[in-house]
Amino acid sequence: MNGLIDIMQLRTDEIDALIKTANDIIGNPQKYAQACAGKKLATLFFEPSTRTRLSFEAAMYELGGHVLGFSEAASSSSSKGESVADTVTVVGYYADIIAMRHPKEGAPLVAAMKSSVPVINAGDGGHNHPTQTLTDLLTIQREKGRFDHLTVGLCGDLKFGRTVHSLISALSRYEKVKFVLISPEELVIPDYVRQEVLQKNNIDFVETRDLEAAMPELDILYMTRVQRERFFNEADYIRLKDSYVLTVPKLQSAKSDLCVMHPLPRVNEIAVDVDDDPRACYFKQAQNGKYIRMALILKLLGIEVDAQ
Ligand code: NCD
Repeated sequence: MNGLIDIMQLRTDEIDALIKTANDIIGNPQKYAQACAGKKLATLFFEPSTRTRLSFEAAMYELGGHVLGFSEAASSSSSKGESVADTVTVVGYYADIIAMRHPKEGAPLVAAMKSSVPVINAGDGGHNHPTQTLTDLLTIQREKGRFDHLTVGLCGDLKFGRTVHSLISALSRYEKVKFVLISPEELVIPDYVRQEVLQKNNIDFVETRDLEAAMPELDILYMTRVQRERFFNEADYIRLKDSYVLTVPKLQSAKSDLCVMHPLPRVNEIAVDVDDDPRACYFKQAQNGKYIRMALILKLLGIEVDAQ
């Protein structure tokens, strides 16, 4: 398939290569400054975004390319009833690569099947978010130096949190990764992740409600926001939204080299004074998103920049 729809499309050696390129870009940005000269990225965002869209756009600009697109469905012809398939057919005449976010699960897949240019899934409903996972993997590699032998706590909305689903899939390929899945009963991971990813591959995992009890064993704590826009009922959201709030006292029992991650936006899940703790990695994570997206754009456009 043309593009990146699901993180599992990438082999582990391809992920390693993307991370190597991203690290090289961080060290030598000038080497890449004209790599995409004359190329255009279209960002088709049918759902709100700050980091994903702007990091894609910054990534393309820093590669010397150009960006066009829209940031809300209402300003595109989808509001007139145009199908995703027709939209990408036409955008393929104008751009060399497309990043698409859509509230409907599977919409970027439909787009990729139709498109003449690579389509990147920038988040589809409560399903997947592969470029956030690449961002997360680059962060884990830079902070922990490995993907294996890690105990990874994922906390919050594990039901609708698409970044969680993609990250579990990606990390399940490495040796001795243990998942501690921390959520309220109503927001546990979907059955398809539990059965098709965790159980099928014999991955070590536990499901719990208790963040504080889990804290001492964690190498990574991945906090998530309760995904208000995916709830059918506002009262349920209000009841569940503050299920977990990470505070400085709660980190007292954590490992000294814990890495606290969050795809952002943060609502109330992490108290702002945690930002000053050296274990807080979420803003570095957001920074890493630009570099890994630069590496991905280069790969999908088939552009090689001498790695040395
Ligand atoms: C995430 C998303 O859109 O799924 N945000 C992001 O891309 N960094 C997480 C979220 O919205 O909670």
